[in-house]
Amino acid sequence: MKSGRKLAPTIIVIFGGTGDLTKRKLIPAFYNLYIDGWMPEKFVIIGLGRTQWTDEDYKEHLHEGLVEFSRKGKPDEAKWQQFHASVSYFESNINDPEAYRGLADRLDAFDQEWGVRANRLFYLSIAPQFIEAATVNISKYELASRPDSDRIVVEKPFGYNKQTAVALNRLLSQTFQEEQIYRIDHYLGKETVQNILAFRFANALFEPLWNRNYIDYIQVTVAEQVGVEDRGSYYEHSGALRDMIQNHLLQVLCMIAMEAPISFQAEEIRNRKVDVMRAIRRLRPEEVHKYAVRGQYGPGWIAGRKVPGYREEPGVDPRSNTETYAAVQLYIDNWRWQGVPFYLRTGKRMQEKTSSITIQFRPVPHSTFSPTQAGNIMPNRLTINIQPTMDIRLRFTAKKQGLEMSLNPAEMVFDYDTCSTQTPEAYETLLLDAMRGDATLYMRSDQVEEAWDVITPIQEAWESRDSLDFPNYAAGTWGPESAEALIARQGHIWALNLHT
Ligand code: BG6
Repeated sequence: MKSGRKLAPTIIVIFGGTGDLTKRKLIPAFYNLYIDGWMPEKFVIIGLGRTQWTDEDYKEHLHEGLVEFSRKGKPDEAKWQQFHASVSYFESNINDPEAYRGLADRLDAFDQEWGVRANRLFYLSIAPQFIEAATVNISKYELASRPDSDRIVVEKPFGYNKQTAVALNRLLSQTFQEEQIYRIDHYLGKETVQNILAFRFANALFEPLWNRNYIDYIQVTVAEQVGVEDRGSYYEHSGALRDMIQNHLLQVLCMIAMEAPISFQAEEIRNRKVDVMRAIRRLRPEEVHKYAVRGQYGPGWIAGRKVPGYREEPGVDPRSNTETYAAVQLYIDNWRWQGVPFYLRTGKRMQEKTSSITIQFRPVPHSTFSPTQAGNIMPNRLTINIQPTMDIRLRFTAKKQGLEMSLNPAEMVFDYDTCSTQTPEAYETLLLDAMRGDATLYMRSDQVEEAWDVITPIQEAWESRDSLDFPNYAAGTWGPESAEALIARQGHIWALNLHT
């Protein structure tokens, strides 16, 4: 059985320890790694925050998060007791140098107690304006002095545009070497997204077809039913393009479009991915309206419940110009993909929660069958459902049973649920990788900067001109009509009903 017992003693320090992410994702992930035997034998988690809490208050707060958000539900009491013995709270102000002195003492005390200099994992789950104070002080107090065993994980948003991302990379590089910096994109930790690499590069069947000669177009949809919830003030400065396309959707695109890496080494894979990012055609300002569509949800109905429009959400400007939906048509200028449209779309308050990739193959070059027989011939389609349905489906045409030659679509399905009911959460995979020092699924500085570069013309065009038709889609629908028109020009439609 695999285990994390061989991992070196590790101290995890969470900046933003009282935040939502820690409660919803990080602690449930560490706890599940713990009960599944993946945590190092010796570890501690120190949560940092300004709230005046005792250790007990903090643990109570984290326990509530586990009950509500862990994939395994309410924790077993005895196991929780064992786990939380390794968790503590450190009340501190991120801008206060004294706090770092105190933190240094705490870290040293663990090293003394364990008789070894432990690995240190700093997790920055804080707003961008605090990153400078955190990294400068980590450096000043020499908290991360060992490049081979001290690491920093940085949560999004990684910058606000290309310029701020470059500045942030520069800032981090003053304290950390690139090998120590783990820029997280949780989509890369999703089981179904990781499987893209296995599917493509561990099978000989699809790769010969995986190019412009056989593929008509590719779609990536990440649709959410939730609205902006209580994140209105963050989202107002973000919007769907920054929040989702710049990171999650472009990362998924890279996994689909990359060349085969020579080996499964972090740098090999990251090199191939950044090649894709570089090859994505940059839009000229005057082309943006042709290749990108924005939307904002108005009031509507979700699962039989009336929900408010974006402009009525807390923390949102009643005349907001922020997009809650974005669709883009991209091209990759290389031999493999020349001329194949990649359609990416994402939105909040959509009809269904679903993340899915559609690889649409070209039709057969000549129909052997008469029009009456071939009435139902549909080009082959490969659908990779990322969430909540997790499967891979291949649509092909088959003969309908009976005395006549009549054709019908059929499907071959690989369903994750039939293999295992215990799929690890993305954060479990990614945190374990960070503790092991494996950056394969994390983003390198150049990838992040290139991704900003791809969206910059769209960002600038949308910021310079208010959208006059906002809100332009009702909550509970598939987004604005202009997104249908975007791809209809090439004779394509969004694969809405993803399971047929
Ligand atoms: C986050 C975005 O990165 O991803 C959120 O900031 C979004 O706005 C979330 O809701 C979606 O993640 P998932 O894993 O629920 O698809």
